[in-house]
Amino acid sequence: MVEADLLSLSVADLAQRIRGCDAVVSCLGHVASLRGIFGPPRDLVAQATRRLCRAIEEAKPPDPVRFVLMSSVTVNHPEGLDPPRGILDKMIVCALDAVLPPMRDNQGAADVLHDDIGAGGPYIQWVAVRPDTLLPGDVTEYELHETRVDSFVKPGSTNMANVAHFMCELVTDSDAWVRWRGRLPIVVNAPAANG
Ligand SMILES: NC(=O)c1ccc[n+]([C@@H]2O[C@H](COP(=O)([O-])OP(=O)(O)OC[C@H]3O[C@@H](n4cnc5c(N)ncnc54)[C@H](OP(=O)(O)O)[C@@H]3O)[C@@H](O)[C@H]2O)c1
Repeated sequence: MVEADLLSLSVADLAQRIRGCDAVVSCLGHVASLRGIFGPPRDLVAQATRRLCRAIEEAKPPDPVRFVLMSSVTVNHPEGLDPPRGILDKMIVCALDAVLPPMRDNQGAADVLHDDIGAGGPYIQWVAVRPDTLLPGDVTEYELHETRVDSFVKPGSTNMANVAHFMCELVTDSDAWVRWRGRLPIVVNAPAANG
């Protein structure tokens, strides 16, 4: 176990630590404080994603490493596949995007995977998991969707345990991986779990 600011580790250092790993799961994000949200680096998640991908490429694994990114339902599908937002939703998203750097950063990180890594070369394949509002609690039934199903006006919820469960499925179950690789699944609690 290494405890460090990920951005303080060089790509070569990261590559050395990644060597021998089948999967990389990145759950870091801006901590919920004034400094975490508005302070540098404003592109923390995008930078970390770019560096981890470069490190995987530098490690030259014999089989593609599964890269799983903790993304967000605020992230738009880079191919514009999400259903269009309503007017109120659009206004809220524009306002938050303008004032909250982490929102833009999460989009940037997803764009790194989609635009720069794309279908993946011989070294990396990826999934960007998009949970809705995170809640504590146990693993419950949850749903996976290709595109957004809720909105800012009527948000969904996702138990953190369900995000973890799905991420573990992705890295351990080849069927789940083949189903979702190169995609940005939305993960939300099933209606019964939402109460
Ligand atoms: N909260 C939500 O409702 C929600 C919903 C959907 C998606 N998301 C997304 O999920 C991601 C994680 O969010 P969260 O709510 O789980 O945040 P969180 O509880 O604040 O966790 C963020 C983690 O990132 C770590 N971290 C921050 N900067 C780092 C760095 N430079 N190097 C290494 N680790 C670093 C923090 O470590 P320390 O504790 O040591 O500082 C912390 O463990 C974010 O991208 C967020 O946008 C959140």
